[in-house]
Order: sequence, then structure tokens, then C-alpha cells
Amino acid sequence: MNTLNIELLPQQRQHANILNIFEDEKASSHGFVRVSAPMVRYSKLEFRRLIRQYGVKLAFTPMVIADSFIHSQKARDNEFTTCLEDIPVVAQFAARDAYEFSVAAQLIYPYVDGVDLNCGCPQSWAISKGYGCGLLRHPELVRDIIQTTRRVLPQSFSISVKLRLLNGAPEESIRSTVELARQLEKCGATFLTIHGRTMWQKTSDPLNITAMTEIKKSIQVPLIVNGNIRSWQDAKELHDQTNADGVMAARGILSNPALFDNNIQEKETPRECVQKWLDIATRAGDNIQFQCFHHHLTFMWSSNMKRKLRLEFNNFTNKQQVFDFFEERYGLKPEEASHSNPFDYTKCVYPPLAHSNTNKINAEEPLEGQTWNENSNGKFFNEFKELSDTETQFDNRHDDIDLEGSFFTGLD
Ligand SMILES: Cc1cc2nc3c(=O)[nH]c(=O)nc-3n(C[C@H](O)[C@H](O)[C@H](O)COP(=O)(O)O)c2cc1C
Repeated sequence: MNTLNIELLPQQRQHANILNIFEDEKASSHGFVRVSAPMVRYSKLEFRRLIRQYGVKLAFTPMVIADSFIHSQKARDNEFTTCLEDIPVVAQFAARDAYEFSVAAQLIYPYVDGVDLNCGCPQSWAISKGYGCGLLRHPELVRDIIQTTRRVLPQSFSISVKLRLLNGAPEESIRSTVELARQLEKCGATFLTIHGRTMWQKTSDPLNITAMTEIKKSIQVPLIVNGNIRSWQDAKELHDQTNADGVMAARGILSNPALFDNNIQEKETPRECVQKWLDIATRAGDNIQFQCFHHHLTFMWSSNMKRKLRLEFNNFTNKQQVFDFFEERYGLKPEEASHSNPFDYTKCVYPPLAHSNTNKINAEEPLEGQTWNENSNGKFFNEFKELSDTETQFDNRHDDIDLEGSFFTGLD
């Protein structure tokens, strides 16, 4: 395997020790780490700023294609932004081999507290290219990726894997996933995340709690469990059932970014959370794209709007329209101070690569679907919006559609 040792740039800020976070939270009254999932298009810096104000102790970036990250400055600038307060943060990569993952990990090392390998994306484009769940067909490759990356990064720096259950009849699936989890631990993984379904299962299929519990019992490193968390109660229950060290939410935290705040009784997004999002978007200025700002509000606030308002809201094309709408309808507007108080962003500098691996896709142009453009809303958003445009959406029907298999629209 052609690996590359990069002269690591000095850390831009103190790295958080992720194992310490698991320790600290274990000792807390609830006993687990509250984790915001990697979400393409959505778990970006501004959203991470918001959810950290509501109990999230560990946040993931969206999945970034390692090959694009290595080879394209444009991809790096588009796909990853950070700031001094963006801590702790784990950068997730889709990679096909140890070269891609270890080089991307070394490049991003100064700016994050850990790197995560995506072994859970079930989309056909990903599997056919050897990404995501495609890697689960080659456990030896996953081991090699983690082992190699462990060798080139400091021991205290977190390297993790997010995976689904391996395919097979129920007992075989548990046995082989436990086996892989144990091997990854031996290879130097800091922690693992398990989404309790196989790659063939939809998000409407039940979670395999037994499998997640077995995995937790079989490894010493922390385990985060993931699937169907819609409320603080759900998070506590899944923790109680599995004894896992962390609980991760994706769709639930998009719908209600305050989900992990155990002091908040409301089941739906509190008004003050929307207020914070308006302030964050104002302070972020051009660093947040309109669609991202708008989609998040659609997820958070649709259930408070009647159909006519939803249709009006969905048609907005700029921030000012959104601000006017929220002020007029709900008496919410960005605080005065946010206009004169822009956020600081870290200027990320990456060391030049000594050589580049030529057997790679042309990554100068980020893959369609990885970035925003006028014509691509993302399937997740489109499906959510489609339901939200009908009268019947707000009975939580969107819970039942297979949204996860739909991230990365345009790449199939
Ligand atoms: C919009 C969206 C984007 C996602 N992007 C990613 C991703 O970048 N990496 C990843 O590992 N999983 C991704 N997922 C899967 C989630 O992290 C999570 O495993 C899955 O949605 C199940 O959790 P949930 O029931 O809390 O939604 C995404 C899911 C959604 C809905």
C-alpha cells in the first residue's frame, strides 16, 4: 500500500481528547455522550455551533470524499470549515483504501479532534466505488485502513469507524460484526459507532438492539449507538438497553436541534432555538449558503406552519425573505448585535503533498451532490419538503420514509 507520511502542521488549537469525553460523560447523571451524526449537507460548522448549545458533546462533520479532499483545494474549502470553538469535532471521510484515508486524516489533523471512516453509506454509487458499506465486504481492507492511519498519527488522536451491521442471517450478522469490531479495536480504533441495521435494511425497519448490545459487551473501546432517536427519552432508552457509551442522532436532531437538552421539556424545536439559528446565520454572513440556512429552518419549524405558510416559505430564495417572514409571523428576528459581530473562521492551511496518487478520480471538481447548487436540493430535503407540502405531513409520517438511503442525491 502506497502511504504517505506528511510533515504534520502544528495543531491550530489544543486537540480535545475524545476518550476523556467518554469518561466524563459516563460519570454524568445520564451516563452517555450525546452525539450529533455526520450528515451530508447538514452537519456543517454553523449547525455544529447550534447543537453544542443544546447538550451535544461530540459533533461530526458531513462525510467528505477523502480523494477529493486530498487532491482539490476547492473541495477542501467547500467541504470543511471550522473555528476555534468547533471542538470537539470529528471529520468523517469516505475512503476506499489506506492511502486515501491516512493522507486525508493527516491533512485535516491540525483542525479536528478525530477522523472517522464511513462504513455505513448504503447507496449503490458508494458501494460500487468501494466506499461506505462497500468496505464492509472487505473487513481486511477496513483493518488495514485503521492500522495504517494509526501508525501515522499520534496515539492520542481519535481514529474511529462508523458502521452498519454486516449482512447475514441474524446470528451470523451479529457474530461477524462483533468479530470486525474486535479487530478494529486491536488495530487501534479509538471508538466505534454502530447504526443498528444492515446495509439492506431501511430506516423504517426495526433497529437490532440485541446486536448493538452484543457489540458493546465485546469491546473495550467506547461504542456509540445510532438509530431512530427522536427525543431525549429515546436516547435514554437506547442507552439503557445497550449500555452504550454514546448515543447519536441524525434525523431527530435536524428536526429538533435541542433534542439532547434534558432541561427542555418541549418535544419540538423551541422558539429560542430558531432565534439562535437566525443569529448564527447572521453572524456567519456569506459563510453559510442560503439553501443550508433555509433547509435547516424547514426541518426545524415546518410542523409549526400551516400548509399555505409552508408553501410560501419553501419558495423563498434569500435570507432577507426568511428574516422578514419570521419577524412578521413569529416575532423572531436576529439580535441587533449579531449584525455587527461576524464569526471568526479558521484559515485552514494544508501542507503540500510530496506526490499525488495518479490512479484516482479527477477530484478538481467536487462530485455532484457534494456541494450546493441551485438545482440540487438533496433528496433528503426534497422528500421532506414533498411531505411537508401536503396536508398530512405533520403526523410525523416523514419518520417512516427511508431518508437515510437518500443522502447524497445525484451520486447514484
Ligand atoms: C440527511 C442525512 C445525511 C446523512 N449523511 C451521512 C454521512 O455523511 N455519513 C454517515 O455516516 N451517515 C450519514 N447519514 C446517516 C446518519 O448518520 C444515521 O446513521 C442514520 O440517519 C440513522 O440515524 P437516525 O435514525 O438518527 O436518522 C445521513 C443521514 C441523513 C438523514
